[in-house]
Amino acid sequence: MLIRPTDQILSSEITPEALWLNRRQLMTGAAALGLAVALPAQAAGELVYRKSPLSVKDDKNSFEQITQYNNFYEFGTDKDDPAQTAGKLKTRPWNIVIEGECDKPHTFSMDELLKIAPLEERIYRLRCVEGWSMVIPWVGFPLSELLKRVNPTSKAKYVEFISLADKEQMPGVQRAVLDWPYTEGLRIDEAMHPLTIMAVGLYGKVLPNQNGAPIRVVVPWKYGFKSAKSIVKIRLTEKQPQTSWNKAGPNEYGFYSNVNPEVDHPRWSQATERRIGEFFKRKTLMFNGYGDQVAGMYKGMDLKKLF
Ligand code: MTE
Repeated sequence: MLIRPTDQILSSEITPEALWLNRRQLMTGAAALGLAVALPAQAAGELVYRKSPLSVKDDKNSFEQITQYNNFYEFGTDKDDPAQTAGKLKTRPWNIVIEGECDKPHTFSMDELLKIAPLEERIYRLRCVEGWSMVIPWVGFPLSELLKRVNPTSKAKYVEFISLADKEQMPGVQRAVLDWPYTEGLRIDEAMHPLTIMAVGLYGKVLPNQNGAPIRVVVPWKYGFKSAKSIVKIRLTEKQPQTSWNKAGPNEYGFYSNVNPEVDHPRWSQATERRIGEFFKRKTLMFNGYGDQVAGMYKGMDLKKLF
């Protein structure tokens, strides 16, 4: 990936979390003081969701950090490009086509997608292969619930995700930095794992465009690039699908891309990471700290060869 080293993040790009007071906290605080809250029950952009026991307890990054420091090459390769240029992306109407090895292929509208399962807040760590990490309060639903709707056949061994690639709306797609559209893939058991979600929001609000609006996948034990944004198609396949990053650098980006401090990227050590907003580096945890939940899926696999 083309990167700006994290050492160069300006302190002005980082807002302390305390300054991010969301509407829910505001209302809870007001209610505790016995104040009448004049805000409507659900303001535009607010999502109704429940909390999930699968969230991590780490301190969250601020809304500003999460939405101003992004990788979304369809909108440019600098970290602040997506926040500046993704505003134009039209996120309605939006559909996801699900096809391939399934009995009931279907095109899901955004309205249908939002009713697949109750929305949950999932606070997850995101570890980027470039050596930085964040903690993000996503709002979404399990990908497994969506895939169950199309009845995958016994031949469905993999799941391919395809992002929107629209030159008109996405200035980065005019440049051949990657082989567009952005594609990623998971093994079917990884896709059906309860930690894997389709995110439609963060910090309780609909997903900002720069974070992959209106809907993206989030796979918290893998490097961030596995979590494809602005998805328009999901294909169930018998063969392992190709991925954009693997095509761009086969010796740098493997299919599995599990967070693994023991397997360095040719250009970056993966042993440590810098949490955005922190000064000192932390040790990177195997499977990004989700080992108890996911290690079983990789039993007997050589994770150095299958990186
Ligand atoms: N999805 C698409 N379509 N295009 C991209 O460039 N970048 C990936 C991933 N998903 C990317 C993408 C990378 S490298 C990372 S680290 C995460 O998105 C970043 O997600 P965030 O910006 O919401 O933190």
